[in-house]
Amino acid sequence: MEPATPAIWLAPLRGVTLAPFRRLLAERFGGVDAALAPFAALGSAEKIPARIFADAAASLGGPLPTVPQVIGRDPAALRAAGLVLRDLGFDRMDLNCGCPWKFVARKGRGSGLPEDPDAFARMLEAGCEAMPGGFSIKLRLGYRSPDTLAARAKLINSFPLRCVTVHPRTGVQMYDGSADLDAFGAVLPLLRAPVVYNGDIASPADAARILERFPSISGIMVGRGLCAHPGLAAQIRGAPPPSREAVAAFARDLAAEYASSLCGPAPLLGRLKELWGYLHRSFEDGDEGLRRIQRATTPDALFDAVESLTALSARL
Ligand SMILES: Cc1cc2nc3c(=O)[nH]c(=O)nc-3n(C[C@H](O)[C@H](O)[C@H](O)COP(=O)(O)O)c2cc1C
Repeated sequence: MEPATPAIWLAPLRGVTLAPFRRLLAERFGGVDAALAPFAALGSAEKIPARIFADAAASLGGPLPTVPQVIGRDPAALRAAGLVLRDLGFDRMDLNCGCPWKFVARKGRGSGLPEDPDAFARMLEAGCEAMPGGFSIKLRLGYRSPDTLAARAKLINSFPLRCVTVHPRTGVQMYDGSADLDAFGAVLPLLRAPVVYNGDIASPADAARILERFPSISGIMVGRGLCAHPGLAAQIRGAPPPSREAVAAFARDLAAEYASSLCGPAPLLGRLKELWGYLHRSFEDGDEGLRRIQRATTPDALFDAVESLTALSARL
């Protein structure tokens, strides 16, 4: 799954980088080597239905290799999830140790998990056993303090992780400020597993800066940048920016897929507003266009707003 180094990963954005997005992104623009699917929350070990992995499973055999991600703090549930995933045909599983939301972190999940070294160690052990050779984690510098990750490096190094993705912010920081490249640079040599850098890559120049400054990383992971500019990964590899038509057609075809799979206008509106919250940046006057998109109360009103933003028909 990790081809030419460094790999370019699509980061998971819940509600945005779903299976149709991942497939169309790979088919239309290319440049992305692999994706992490948005997290599936683990319940109890007895109840891990395969359907919680439906989104990741929809990418099996597709153009963009996708690693399922889970979130939780129960090692038995993580082991059970590994079994379900292997039955589905996956040989990889990622554990979300970075989700910043307060109600998640306060329960010791997401970015709260590494704060408790014993609970963290039990999850790393369970994950490595459940998905031998294919278990990875994605995390921040810490929940409150930016020093947690460095303090856990020895513990992390005692497990055979496939890779460690680091988003160098704290949990309480959410997405404020900027990614702390000095802190990333300090923690990078402490980690034995291949490290993927994640955070604030919005242009080919941003990617070049990261790759030049940190030549030992195994990859970069791009989230909001690829949702705003779906051609970004290809551009990082030297392709010209995609045409306005290509981006508009991508959005229209994605909308058609969501319209056929979502029930009723409200979920479709919500899904498309979330998408356009990022994608508007591909267009001049994107901010004004986004305001109209956000005001839309029906899919037709939204398609009108998209049409005036892109100057292309948005009809399904
Ligand atoms: C709306 C939204 C949803 C997200 N969902 C997830 C998720 O399911 N799993 C995860 O590990 N990170 C999730 N993230 C974090 C991103 O994967 C990524 O780490 C973060 O956006 C920083 O990278 P970027 O600057 O390239 O976007 C989410 C971020 C946003 C904004």
